[in-house]
Amino acid sequence: MLQLKARNKQSVVEPEPGFTILDLALKSKVEWGFSCTRGTCARCRCLILEGQEFLEEPTEAEDARLEPDELESGYRLACQCVIKQAGAISVTHRPYF
Ligand code: FES
Repeated sequence: MLQLKARNKQSVVEPEPGFTILDLALKSKVEWGFSCTRGTCARCRCLILEGQEFLEEPTEAEDARLEPDELESGYRLACQCVIKQAGAISVTHRPYF
């Protein structure tokens, strides 16, 4: 179960392996701000509240865009953050502004 929280609504969807958090948010009509989908704008930034172990490791783009302490605290870029395995995952959209 993947729980997505954004400003306009919350949604619970199937965490489909191979898809990004952003793919699944858009599919479920959660209003998830984004722009580049390449890991540079950070408008899709989010905080993983639960289930980091079910996600692929951060991409090079995330390593370049996010500070080490953000990554350590569980921040990811939703357009880069791929589901590795189904499980209980909870994510909230946390753009910088
Ligand atoms: S949409 Fe730009 S970093 Fe994700």
